[in-house]
Amino acid sequence: MEYLRHPLINNSEALQIVQKLKAEKSSWEDGKKTAGSQAARIKHNFQLDKRSSTSMELKDLIINKMISNPLIKSFTLPNLIHGVMFTKSLAGDSYGTHLDNPYMPSGRSDLSFTLFLNEPKDYQGGELCIQTMNKTEKIKLSAGELIIYPSTKLHSVAEVKNGQRYVCVGWIQSYVQNNEDRNFLFELDAGAKGLLAKNGRSDELDLIFQAYSNLLRRLGD
Ligand code: NI
Repeated sequence: MEYLRHPLINNSEALQIVQKLKAEKSSWEDGKKTAGSQAARIKHNFQLDKRSSTSMELKDLIINKMISNPLIKSFTLPNLIHGVMFTKSLAGDSYGTHLDNPYMPSGRSDLSFTLFLNEPKDYQGGELCIQTMNKTEKIKLSAGELIIYPSTKLHSVAEVKNGQRYVCVGWIQSYVQNNEDRNFLFELDAGAKGLLAKNGRSDELDLIFQAYSNLLRRLGD
């Protein structure tokens, strides 16, 4: 599985975050500020100053939700969740096709994520578009839903036609850098956990969990 789409917070939690973001008047900055010179030309949005108290408080909440979610943990094998920021896009805003920097001051980007904070009906356009070999996946999720995708993919944000789009974005430095290796481990873990839930523990499952742990040790940084 290349992408993980998963609810992270419920609707009312997402709504509360959006209300806090809307109440912020002075801490929004031009998104170009954190973009390289190439990306700055195609990046049109606003981001909340990472040093603002609202950003710091909400960032911790999101990171805690992510690391306490067993499915997200198994899919991403997170060493570091970093660069978390809140962005808003108004009518006419977009972010052209780009690749996220592999190394940021905050860490390495193995996986990128977007948490959608307001409902799709609140704005037209604003899809996250991820390029794969043969097609472009267009993703627009419900408030509180998260998409995690490999940072190795070109992606863009379609122009917001009207309304306002609020999301939280960030990156994950994984213990296992290689996407294919990480996916093998994820499937092995999911299968073993499924068997455990179905039949309870067994000596054979102990061997599978042992193999999983040792593979993780072998494939990890
Ligand atoms: Ni990006």
